[in-house]
Amino acid sequence: MNEKIFEMFPILESERVVIKQMQKTDIDVIYDFNSCKESLKYIARNPYKTIKEAEEKLSFHLSRNEDKTAFWWTFTLKSTDEKIGYGGLFDISTTNNKAEIGYGLIKKHWGKGYMSEIMNEILRFGVSIAEFHKIYGIIIPGNEASIRLLEKNGFVKEAHLRDHSYAKGQYFDEAIYSLINQYSS
Ligand SMILES: CC(C)(COP(=O)(O)OP(=O)(O)OC[C@H]1O[C@@H](n2cnc3c(N)ncnc32)[C@H](O)[C@@H]1OP(=O)(O)O)[C@@H](O)C(=O)NCCC(=O)NCCS
Repeated sequence: MNEKIFEMFPILESERVVIKQMQKTDIDVIYDFNSCKESLKYIARNPYKTIKEAEEKLSFHLSRNEDKTAFWWTFTLKSTDEKIGYGGLFDISTTNNKAEIGYGLIKKHWGKGYMSEIMNEILRFGVSIAEFHKIYGIIIPGNEASIRLLEKNGFVKEAHLRDHSYAKGQYFDEAIYSLINQYSS
C-alpha cells in the first residue's frame, strides 16, 4: 500500500456529502447512530444508553486514526452542514495490505442514495490512492442494503461464518464480502 497517505488525512467529497476526518466534536453523530435500535439491527452491539458509551467509542476511533490503523470519517451534508453518519477503513494491515470497511447512517437519512455516493469515494480512495490490495466488509446476513452496496461495488461473498458473534442475547452469523484490487501488488 501507499503508506504516504498517512502523512495527510484525506478529505473526500461526493456530490452531496463531505467525508472528513472524525473529530472530538463528533460525539453527536456517534451517539445518535449507536443509540438507535433499528440502526444496530444488523450490528452485533447493544444500543447505547449513555453518552459515556459514545465517548468511549469516539475516543477509540480517534486513537485508531492517530496510530494510523484506520481512517475514520464523519459524513456531512453539503446543503445543511448536518452530520448524517460515519464510517471508515479500519483494522488496516500494512503487512497484508488490507483494510476492513464499515459505515452507518442515521436512520432518517437512509434510502436517499447517500451511502452509494460515499462508498464510491471511500473505495476510490482505498483502491487508487491508498492502494490496498484487499478491502473487506463483515455483514450480518439479512442486511440487504449493505449487501447491495457491496455487491454493486464489485465485492463478492467469500465466507459465511456461523454463530460468529454474540450480542443482545443471541449469536449472529457473519459473512465476509471482499474486493480484490487487481492493480495493486
Ligand atoms: C446500510 C446503509 C448504510 C445504506 O445506506 P443508504 O444511504 O440507505 O443506501 P443507498 O440509499 O445508497 O442504497 C444502497 C443500495 O441498497 C438498496 N437498498 C437500500 N435499502 C434496502 C433494503 N432495505 N433492502 C434491499 N435493498 C436496499 C438501494 O436500492 C441501493 O441499491 P440500488 O443502487 O441498486 O438502488 C444504511 O441502511 C444504514 O446505515 N444501516 C444501518 C447500519 C448498517 O447496517 N451498516 C452496515 C453494517 S455492515
